[in-house]
Amino acid sequence: MLVFNQVHFYYKKGQPVLDNVSFTINPGEFVAIVGANGCGKSTIAKLMDGLLLPKGGSVKLNDLDTSVPEDLAKIHEQIGLVFQNPEDQFITTTVMDEVLFGLENIRVPREEMSERVSHALQAVHMGDYLEAMPHELSGGQKQRVAIAAIVAMRPQVIIFDEATSMLDPQGREQVVSIMHELHQQGLTIVHITHHMEEVLTAERMLLIHEGRLEYDGDPLAFFNSMPAADYQLHLPFAVRLHRQLDHHIPLAADWKEMIRSQWSINYKR
Ligand SMILES: Nc1ncnc2c1ncn2[C@@H]1O[C@H](COP(=O)(O)OP(=O)(O)O)[C@@H](O)[C@H]1O
Ligand SMILES: [Mg+2]
Repeated sequence: MLVFNQVHFYYKKGQPVLDNVSFTINPGEFVAIVGANGCGKSTIAKLMDGLLLPKGGSVKLNDLDTSVPEDLAKIHEQIGLVFQNPEDQFITTTVMDEVLFGLENIRVPREEMSERVSHALQAVHMGDYLEAMPHELSGGQKQRVAIAAIVAMRPQVIIFDEATSMLDPQGREQVVSIMHELHQQGLTIVHITHHMEEVLTAERMLLIHEGRLEYDGDPLAFFNSMPAADYQLHLPFAVRLHRQLDHHIPLAADWKEMIRSQWSINYKR
């Protein structure tokens, strides 16, 4: 359980970025975090991982507290962060070394390493790229290796901070589907994104606005009832389509499903 309890945060005193933000993310949830540029999403990601510490309130992972220095190493092991730019994430020269690097840092026994590396690379469908070098990989593949390096450490939670935003549509689709595969395997996924199509695939959405938690709930219900434009959010295609169609049909996250339901209603008439 990842708990933000009345979290207050600023970089410069008197200019709060987060003001009294509270939420609980349960094990195995898939949560999207959205909000305008500069609203504090990356700050939340760093607070979760203990890279930043709250100025007020607390951030806890189970019984570990980011403000307790002895807990930090355990928190870093349990929470993995994937960042925006795949270019920045490679520090070694081959895919295998990249995944090994993290394991050496947490002192995984030698005999366990190769099994963990191959399992992690298979989990992101990069099992055939052990010896590949960064420049041979696409952006999406690099991002998948960054994910493998985290998966190998066996965390409870993976936070994706706009990890799809620099990828082409194909790379984005692959990375999002890997998020869902990891979720199926029991990991907690936190996905920070500007792509509202991806938000619709999450179980829950947190909207940050002017330092506060403005919405916490079902993404589809939000778009169905709230003025997304007030928060500088795009409307997902399914929602735009729904507004053009007969409003009596239920809004569905999957727009194809919506068309099919509309079609069968008309057909029966
Ligand atoms: N290291 C920093 N020092 C000072 N201000 C920062 C720093 N990082 C972010 N900020 C400011 O804090 C606010 C929130 O930033 P951030 O969490 O990166 O937002 P988001 O990820 O939602 O775009 C912004 O106003 C940003 O300019
Ligand atoms: Mg950010």
